[in-house]
Amino acid sequence: MLVTESTKLADVIHHNYLLLPILNRFNIQLGFGNKTVKEICSEQGVHLQFFLEIVNSFLDNDYFPETELQSFPLKYIIDYIKRSHVFYVEFKVPQIEKLIAELLEKASVENRQSYKLIQNFFIEYKAELIEHIDKEEDNIHPYVLKLDEAIQNNKVDSELRALVKKESITLYADDHDNIEDKLFDLKNLMIKYLPPTEDYSLSNAILYELFRLERDLGDHSRIEEKVLIPKVEAIEKQILGA
Ligand SMILES: [Fe+2]
Ligand SMILES: [Fe+2]
Repeated sequence: MLVTESTKLADVIHHNYLLLPILNRFNIQLGFGNKTVKEICSEQGVHLQFFLEIVNSFLDNDYFPETELQSFPLKYIIDYIKRSHVFYVEFKVPQIEKLIAELLEKASVENRQSYKLIQNFFIEYKAELIEHIDKEEDNIHPYVLKLDEAIQNNKVDSELRALVKKESITLYADDHDNIEDKLFDLKNLMIKYLPPTEDYSLSNAILYELFRLERDLGDHSRIEEKVLIPKVEAIEKQILGA
C-alpha cells in the first residue's frame, strides 16, 4: 500500500495498526473520521510530505526514499527521532517491564528462576537502550542542530569548521549499533526455553510487545542511518568546503 495525500487516514490504520504510535509522534490522535491524510496534516500543522515519507517507509522497507527524506529540514527529523525515544523509554519499556513483573508474580516456585532470567535480561536491555538514547540526545542532536542552524543562517566560521573536524558524524555512524538486535535473543529465550506458563496469554502479550518494539526500533535506526547521517555528512562537507 502506498499512502498518498488523498488516502483516508482510517484506511491506513486498517491496513497496518503498527502505525498507531507513529501517528502519535506527529500529535495525531484517533477519531479522524473519513478525513484524508492531507486534511489531517493541515489540521494538525504536520508537514505533509515529511509525514508521507515516514509512513511509507515504515510500511515498505524497500520504498525508503532516502534522497527525498533527506531534503527535509533536520529539525523535523530530529523532532521525530526524539519523540520516538520518548515513546520507547516512557511508554513501551515500562509496559513490557510491567508484563514481565506480572509473569513473575504469577509463576510457580519452580518456574520463578526461569522467568527471573527474562526479567534480568530486560533490565540489562533497558539500561543499554537508555544509554544509547542518552548518547544521541546529549551529544549528537545538539551537534546536528548547531550545524543546521549555522547553515540556515549562513554563519559558518572557523570555530564551526574546527568543531566539525573534531566531532564529525562519522564517529557516531561507525559506533551506531542496532539496538533492536538484542531483542531477538530475548524473544528466542522466551520462544525456545521458557517453561510453559499457566497464563499463556500473558507470555504471548510479552512476545507481541517485544516483536513490535523490535520492528519500531528497526525502523527508527533506519531513519538515523539512512536519513540523518547522510544528511549531516553532506552538511559537514558543505561547511568544510565553505
Ligand atoms: Fe535513536
Ligand atoms: Fe540509534
